[in-house]
Amino acid sequence: MSNHEQHETAHRPVQRKEMSRRQFLSYTLGGTTAFMMGGAVLPMVRFAVDPLLEKKGEGTYVKVVEESKITNEPQEFKFKIHQIDGWYVSDPELAAWISKDANGKIFALSPVCKHLGCTIGWNTKGQNEYDCPCHDARYTKDGKNITVAPNPLDEYEVKLENGFVYLGPVMPNTRTS
Ligand code: FES
Repeated sequence: MSNHEQHETAHRPVQRKEMSRRQFLSYTLGGTTAFMMGGAVLPMVRFAVDPLLEKKGEGTYVKVVEESKITNEPQEFKFKIHQIDGWYVSDPELAAWISKDANGKIFALSPVCKHLGCTIGWNTKGQNEYDCPCHDARYTKDGKNITVAPNPLDEYEVKLENGFVYLGPVMPNTRTS
């Protein structure tokens, strides 16, 4: 290196890679915004997902009627269930047709027709059968499908306790297989 070049190098200002004011502001504001968004969004995500992770109250029975009121003739009883579906809580009213069989055993049938879901009634045509008003499906007292519907009426799980009939979840008919 010549003397002239050495002299120039000595007087050239050192070039540092410094952050510009604009970059500094971008990083600072970006970081702060991300931090604040995280604080706001995370609780919302948790609120949305939490109920889905909770266990549903399975196997819950509802007290419906005194055992002494049940006869061989099917009768309709209404009852409410407390339902939690994710974050949606409701108390829908359900119905069941409850009767005793020839052995005195109490059983309960769902009123939902297995054809397209209309509500059946007992003995509306004087034939001691369940009838559906929509397309004339008919079922025996045990819920066995006679015409139109492809399957028997569903049954409720039944529990007898302290002289009362309790109903649980709906299950496929056990009396007609
Ligand atoms: S819905 Fe009951 S017969 Fe069609």
